Amino acid sequence: MKKSRILGAGHYVPERVVTNEELSRMMNTTDEWIVERTGIHERRWFTAGVDTVTNMSAKASQMAMKRAGVEPQDIEFIVFATITSDYFLPGNGVLLQRELGLTSVGALEVKNACSGFVYALSVADQFIKSGMYKKILVVGAEIQSSALDKSDEGRSSAVIFADGAGAVVLGAVELDQPGILSTHLHADGSHAEELYCIAPSSSGKVRISQEMVDRGDFFLKMNGNAVFKHAIVRFMEVIKEALDHNGVTKDEIDLLVPHQANLRISQYIQQKMGLPDERVFNNIMYLGNTTAGTIPIALSQAWEQGRLKEGDLVCLAAFGSGFAWASALLRW
Ligand code: UT7
Repeated sequence: MKKSRILGAGHYVPERVVTNEELSRMMNTTDEWIVERTGIHERRWFTAGVDTVTNMSAKASQMAMKRAGVEPQDIEFIVFATITSDYFLPGNGVLLQRELGLTSVGALEVKNACSGFVYALSVADQFIKSGMYKKILVVGAEIQSSALDKSDEGRSSAVIFADGAGAVVLGAVELDQPGILSTHLHADGSHAEELYCIAPSSSGKVRISQEMVDRGDFFLKMNGNAVFKHAIVRFMEVIKEALDHNGVTKDEIDLLVPHQANLRISQYIQQKMGLPDERVFNNIMYLGNTTAGTIPIALSQAWEQGRLKEGDLVCLAAFGSGFAWASALLRW
């Protein structure tokens, strides 16, 4: 039997920087409010006609493969986490497969929003442990800015969400090597409408109608307060679950990589766990919340910054729409 290990991580974010000051010209908000409530100073938004979920994820994947020392033809499967695929159908996995020239390898879409990447990693981990595949591309990528209501009504979400892509190459290694120790997945669909997007919808007469457009059904809708309250509880629970499962303590964590939902959420967890700054990775200050993209982008940047060393104990944790939440504990 084998275990799985992250062999390399990569990322790509659009060139366009959107500052809080620019947002304050679109809606009734201020730099002061955004920084105080979210920790975000700026984020990246895509440029129509230039950036797509497919081409951003391809750039992230190419970086991940290069760092892993893996050729595209070595990849046997793709697990793609996104809620903002370029088409309503087919999913982005096949579009990435085509873009990378990976003829006929399977591609699976994971639509679990903010916890999507950890879910995707867990799925890929099972394929490797079962012996079915030896090298899998696991991707998290989003273009959220086109789903945001940039009027005063949508301001609480519009200041948070952003665009970007991250990817890792997951490979099969011997059991005594560093790698993924465990993953933990949870959901509670009774809160589905606290963070959701109605359209395009298959439960109406047509998937999108003028009425739906007029109502703004294609915008992301979030009850920020409810999400925040559940997030801080579930993050703590699922991190503890990962630590307990592996018989390690929080003091052994070398790097906690929380989903970048809101800096206040990361800081709450950090403070509750008593972790020093150097053992928690945050980049939301300048990249915003890229939903399924946050964790693989963070892993790629943390590695670039020398904050991930061979054998380090790393904890990934995420919470979001669904509600769905998840964690992974691994040795880098
Ligand atoms: O990614 C995974 C899932 N998402 C999350 O985890 C997000 C979790 N939630 C949050 O991050 C926060 O709830 C928000 C950042 C979305 C909102 O922050 P908050 O501290 O919970 O603010 P609030 O919704 O309680 O609103 C406080 C006030 C309200 O005004 P009144 O009613 O007190 O007069 C809002 O209308 O702030 C107002 N407000 C704003 N003001 C300026 C809401 N958004 C803005 C804004 N600029 N952008």
